Amino acid sequence: MAQGGVCDLVRAAAGQPCGFWLGSGGLIPAHEHNVENKTGLPLVHLGITRPEDLAPLFADLRGRFDEECACACDESSWKQFRDAWLGRKSGLLTQITDNWLKPATQELKRVVGQELNQLRAHVESKIEERRKAIEAGTSKTASARERVDLSLPGVIRTIGSHHLIRQVFQQIEDIFFSIGFSVVEGPEIETPYYNFEALNIPEFHPVRDDMDTFYLDLPKGAPQPLLLRTHTSPMQIRTMEKRQPPVRVIVPGKVYRRDNPDATHSFIFHQVEGLAVDSDITFCDFTGTIEYFVKQFFGPGVKTRFRPSYFPFTEPSVEFGVSCIFCGGSGSAAGGGTCSKCKGSGWIELFGAGMVDPAVYGFVKYDPKKVSGFAFGMGIDRLAMLKYGIDDIQVFFQNDARFLRQFP
Ligand code: FA5
Repeated sequence: MAQGGVCDLVRAAAGQPCGFWLGSGGLIPAHEHNVENKTGLPLVHLGITRPEDLAPLFADLRGRFDEECACACDESSWKQFRDAWLGRKSGLLTQITDNWLKPATQELKRVVGQELNQLRAHVESKIEERRKAIEAGTSKTASARERVDLSLPGVIRTIGSHHLIRQVFQQIEDIFFSIGFSVVEGPEIETPYYNFEALNIPEFHPVRDDMDTFYLDLPKGAPQPLLLRTHTSPMQIRTMEKRQPPVRVIVPGKVYRRDNPDATHSFIFHQVEGLAVDSDITFCDFTGTIEYFVKQFFGPGVKTRFRPSYFPFTEPSVEFGVSCIFCGGSGSAAGGGTCSKCKGSGWIELFGAGMVDPAVYGFVKYDPKKVSGFAFGMGIDRLAMLKYGIDDIQVFFQNDARFLRQFP
């Protein structure tokens, strides 16, 4: 932009120094004759006495205006520019009216009036034109900003998946749904009564040692202690309290024990409890149901075995096992040597189960002479480890996406 241009005018309006003013006699230093200086003085002080001197004077003004008009390129500079020219109190056109027109001699007045009218019309129309251009530019930029470019590639959002434990829960639920079981869920914070006593585990029973757990720090005077359940078996009691036989439920959920973490132990893990009670349930129904489940879950090739065991709430109790999924029950590793998973035995213990102990029916007011049933409680984390060849139970709780992504 030329020195002494628009922005000078705007600067002048803001009281800042301008550059040069192109007067009829050539370039005159701005401090001597800038626009304000000229329009601030009567014509006679500018040495203009003849009508023919007015045209170049106004032409200069108009040139100056045009030049500066182009410089008003945004809303705020446009406003400053408009006020500098059209401002009612001290705009340049007001100054011309006050200082040139009003005191002009009769001879000059008519021509000054004409020139001023033409200049005003020009200034007003150009300023309006500029306003529209700026407005259009702004909305253009805004719409360009808002425009959606459909040719751009979309944003790929990664979709999460169920945690492997949840997937295994689902598989187990589906298998049991198919044979008429339904799902119930229960509290993770339990009373000792449901977690132990009603399951035929009185206070000083040695089996409590295996199920040492976390007790809640309750305020003094709390009606009873509360603990984090050590197994899903309390839901056997809660379900039978609420329902009359026939009962066929499974109970997926989280359980807690004060076990030190290692590759197969965690202090928080998952179980699925199973309970079937009716008037005529036999040991055969029990073994048939468990075998059906295991063959559905691991595949028809697995062999099963039941070995005597002990749980205070089942009688008889069994430990249920399957032929080793890794060595096919041979006990030998593929490359020779002993299978590390089953330690060469060819068998893997899966979970505890048994026929519901008649003593338990006493706690839920079932008549042990009229009903019979079976129950089981499987550790889901260990089932998942076996099925998917996972060596360390801790990975289930570490939430490492690299692990989780392997099970979409
Ligand atoms: C019980 O919890 C019995 N309530 C199961 C039961 C139910 C028996 C109904 C009879 C009738 P046990 O303490 O063995 O049983 O635990 C069951 C399963 O939980 C185990 O087979 C094992 O897979 C899993 N488990 C036990 N402790 C841990 C642990 N610290 N970390 C991971 N899994 C565990």
